[in-house]
Amino acid sequence: MRLRTDKAAHEKLAARPERVVILDPDALTQLDHVATQSSLALEIGCGKGGFIKELAPHFPKTHFFAFEKFETILVKALLKYDQSPSPNITYVSGDATHLAACFKPLSIEDIYLNFSDPWPKARHEKRRLTYPTQLTHYHQLLKADGTLHLKTDNRSFFYYSLIALQANGFAITDFTTDLSHSDWFNVPTEFEARYTPTTPIHALKARKQV
Ligand SMILES: C[S@@+](CC[C@H](N)C(=O)[O-])C[C@H]1O[C@@H](n2cnc3c(N)ncnc32)[C@H](O)[C@@H]1O
Repeated sequence: MRLRTDKAAHEKLAARPERVVILDPDALTQLDHVATQSSLALEIGCGKGGFIKELAPHFPKTHFFAFEKFETILVKALLKYDQSPSPNITYVSGDATHLAACFKPLSIEDIYLNFSDPWPKARHEKRRLTYPTQLTHYHQLLKADGTLHLKTDNRSFFYYSLIALQANGFAITDFTTDLSHSDWFNVPTEFEARYTPTTPIHALKARKQV
């Protein structure tokens, strides 16, 4: 079901500067100064925010930045946040293709990509969040032992990402082709909760190679 556009979404996000950063692509600035902790992690494409809201309290010494490019969707994440606030989350309204300008190199411990849009058509490959240009940004931002975590219901996107990661400075340290029947620590996302019963979830962890 398509989400109806919230015409007041921008104002709702702008009214929460303590929790939401609205990216201005023409005036990108570093975001690390808003973090409450020195250890930093990113979720790219947080959607309605269920994952980050559940994960962040497990890691109180890490500050999480959750990027989402659609304001209407990010408002949903903010509503969810308000039900059980956690001081170590900042929501970033904007396109994560700009993230290299938002953090210092070697400053991020973990990056989470959950059910990223697979963009299956070859002519849309550059839009994939694991396209080599994006992977170069992640590589630049991650600390020497930093980890990228990916999960998806799309098998083709999974193997595309697995190969692209290895070709762009990452080593796959673990993977599963059936996350729900694995012993991995897992915080389900909204998208995952909808699809898990019928579709095996593929997941991997990739460590930055230096
Ligand atoms: C299929 S949804 C998954 C949402 C959530 N991760 C989940 O698993 O429930 C993908 C989300 O990524 C967001 N997204 C895709 N590309 C993005 C980008 N370049 N920057 C920020 N958000 C992005 C989309 O707007 C969408 O909300």
